[in-house]
Amino acid sequence: MNRSRNLAAAQIDRLTADLHALAEFVDASMPGWTRRALAEPYRESRSWVAALMKSAGLEVSRDKAGNILGRLPGQGSRPGALVTGSHTDSVVGGGRFDGICGVLGAIEAARCLQESGVQLVHDLLVVDFFGEETNDFGFGCFGSRAAAEGIPESFLDRRDQDDVPLHERLAVDGIDPGEIGTPVWVPGTVKAFVELHVEQGPTLAEQNLPIGVVTAITGIERLIARFLGRADHAGTRAMTDRRDAMVAAAQAVLAIQRTGCEAPVHGVATTTKVENANPSPNVVASRVTLQSELRSIDASWLHGARRRVSEQILEAAQACGVDVEVDWSTDNEVVPTDLVVQDTTAGVLDGLGIPWMPIPSGATHDAVHMATLAPAGMIFIPSRNGGISHSPDEWTDAQDIATGVDALAATLVALDRT
Ligand code: GLV
Ligand code: MN
Ligand code: MN
Ligand code: MN
Repeated sequence: MNRSRNLAAAQIDRLTADLHALAEFVDASMPGWTRRALAEPYRESRSWVAALMKSAGLEVSRDKAGNILGRLPGQGSRPGALVTGSHTDSVVGGGRFDGICGVLGAIEAARCLQESGVQLVHDLLVVDFFGEETNDFGFGCFGSRAAAEGIPESFLDRRDQDDVPLHERLAVDGIDPGEIGTPVWVPGTVKAFVELHVEQGPTLAEQNLPIGVVTAITGIERLIARFLGRADHAGTRAMTDRRDAMVAAAQAVLAIQRTGCEAPVHGVATTTKVENANPSPNVVASRVTLQSELRSIDASWLHGARRRVSEQILEAAQACGVDVEVDWSTDNEVVPTDLVVQDTTAGVLDGLGIPWMPIPSGATHDAVHMATLAPAGMIFIPSRNGGISHSPDEWTDAQDIATGVDALAATLVALDRT
């Protein structure tokens, strides 16, 4: 029997109204739909999310990491909740769909279950994870990371551009840094996790497919390289006698880009920040810092690329007579999604007659951290506009979100029986 056939379909008008309402919470001083964690209007918007969960019949609470939880009690006969959700914060200049579809879609799935008169055996937990996007302290997935693994003390001591440590910023949001060093969620309380998300790339739209079943989530290696050259007069010092930190950094940027271009399957390499400590027009740069990242769903390529990039940065610096220090941090390892969750989603999609394809994720997600707690999977829906994302031009059609919600609800019902 295919239980998913008995589920009420997601209501497009209701979903669209929720999307529009959440999109009203924007930082008017920033481009696009900016909603940064640890700032307004994110705080205010999350009260709206909590109220929406409540109106959808969920029991709402907030955990010690600032995650908003909406619980739909099951029959109570099985341990562990089925968890679904994503995030509602954005990058600076972000769009209206990244993360948001996964939270509003999860709330809509909970409404559909109730309207269908389906009571799950397990509790259903809808989550709006706190601050998924990379924060000013250099790491992402704050809420899901805290829930599953805890936030290392070294992260809490990191400082932002205003030299304020993270632990001080968290206190403003009512998060006690002393309470998040170890996993905030009790192990064993999650049966499975499923995250609905926009693809953030062009593949599904190009293939004319409404759903992607995610096979793996990219690993991310981040680096900060600090070049130390010699300050000197830009007009008098001969080109052959300089120790120019900017030139060394520029060569590093190109070496990093080349590394991405050489990747055989999925591998990307991006530099996003170059800072000169003394950007006077007439001073040879002496202290330049750059920030870059490598991503791949192939762990062995990623680790090899990290080594090659380090070597090439060192070579470029030496050729310029510049010293360099390279600090790497792993934002997350490659995470394959759970095969049972993948098969469950694939099975319900086939039952519903919804075409789909397996697809890897080059973006990272809260599912990475949930995967350390329980079997985790993801459902992708198409990104239109050529798949553009982390941009105000991000777009996903309401019909596609509704199809994603139907797939999510059916997956949750199927997982409930396992
Ligand atoms: C977040 O969206 C990321 O993939 O960095
Ligand atoms: Mn996201
Ligand atoms: Mn994002
Ligand atoms: Mn992301």
